[in-house]
Amino acid sequence: MKIGLLYSRIRTDEKLLLSELRERDHDVEKIDVRKQQFAVSGAPEVFDDLDIVVDRCLSTSRSVYVTKFARAYDVPVINGPDVAEVCADKVKNSLALVEAGVPTPDTDVAFTKDTALESIERFGYPCVLKPVVGSWGRLMAKIDSRDAAEAILEHKATLGHYEHKIFYVQEFVDKPGRDIRVLATDGEPVAAMARSSDHWLTNAAKGAETDTFELDDRALELVEKASAAVGGGLLGIDLMEVGVSEDSEPDDYTVHEVNHTVEFKALNEVADVDVPGEVVDWLESKAQSESGAETPT
Ligand SMILES: Nc1ncnc2c1ncn2[C@@H]1O[C@H](COP(=O)(O)OP(=O)(O)O)[C@@H](O)[C@H]1O
Ligand SMILES: [Mg+2]
Repeated sequence: MKIGLLYSRIRTDEKLLLSELRERDHDVEKIDVRKQQFAVSGAPEVFDDLDIVVDRCLSTSRSVYVTKFARAYDVPVINGPDVAEVCADKVKNSLALVEAGVPTPDTDVAFTKDTALESIERFGYPCVLKPVVGSWGRLMAKIDSRDAAEAILEHKATLGHYEHKIFYVQEFVDKPGRDIRVLATDGEPVAAMARSSDHWLTNAAKGAETDTFELDDRALELVEKASAAVGGGLLGIDLMEVGVSEDSEPDDYTVHEVNHTVEFKALNEVADVDVPGEVVDWLESKAQSESGAETPT
């Protein structure tokens, strides 16, 4: 197949994908989005003859727009623009999860400092304030007191870009020092890991320790539902265990977000499976079904 890779920086994740694709003799067109112009009237030449294009843009805004262009140029894109739009925005993400009946932390959105403070007081301390758009645990605030709440809200309202004036207030989930990241293709898990840290933020980007994690039936069900809730695709689904005490199994899980341009370097290091291999298997089947060809049985 001829596959396009939309990117702005080749990280280890992209290197893993590229070497797997080349090993299988696929024709890869690397498309650095910083070097392209995307005309509304028609596709740039690099899009010619592509069977499928994979969005690996680091920047959320580029990813959201470039996937719209791929769709307009009639090239199948992973993930699609609708998925990117929901996943890129924590408000849309939360609404989609709730609508699909997936447990997700209780969240309020407020548009002024005063109404946000009311939400914070209602959730009680600690609670969490998140940027609507963001990743890697950046600009996340765990609020321990009313004084801290007032200060953070004032800073956001005064210094923040307009997106930071949308206050996304969330209950604090008392997780067992870790959260769970699942890489899934159309709701089917490829691999899962636990990310542990003494810090409340357990992002791999924040230096959390990673280990394999065995998904139970409930987690499998939620991964499938959360994937469908945002429109499916190649996704990173983040869950927290709820109601865990000493060595006990969790009572349930809560899904705090679904990511659309998912990193898998850390997962590949801990997982027993060949993560890029599985991802490319899935991309091949996707390209084949998009082209209308029969999948061999
Ligand atoms: N409501 C919450 N309660 C407790 N911990 C949370 C909560 N929301 C997020 N976290 C922790 O913060 C990390 C980052 O949160 P997340 O919503 O995934 O933002 P990002 O998009 O920056 O990764 C999570 O991996 C988790 O460890
Ligand atoms: Mg996250």
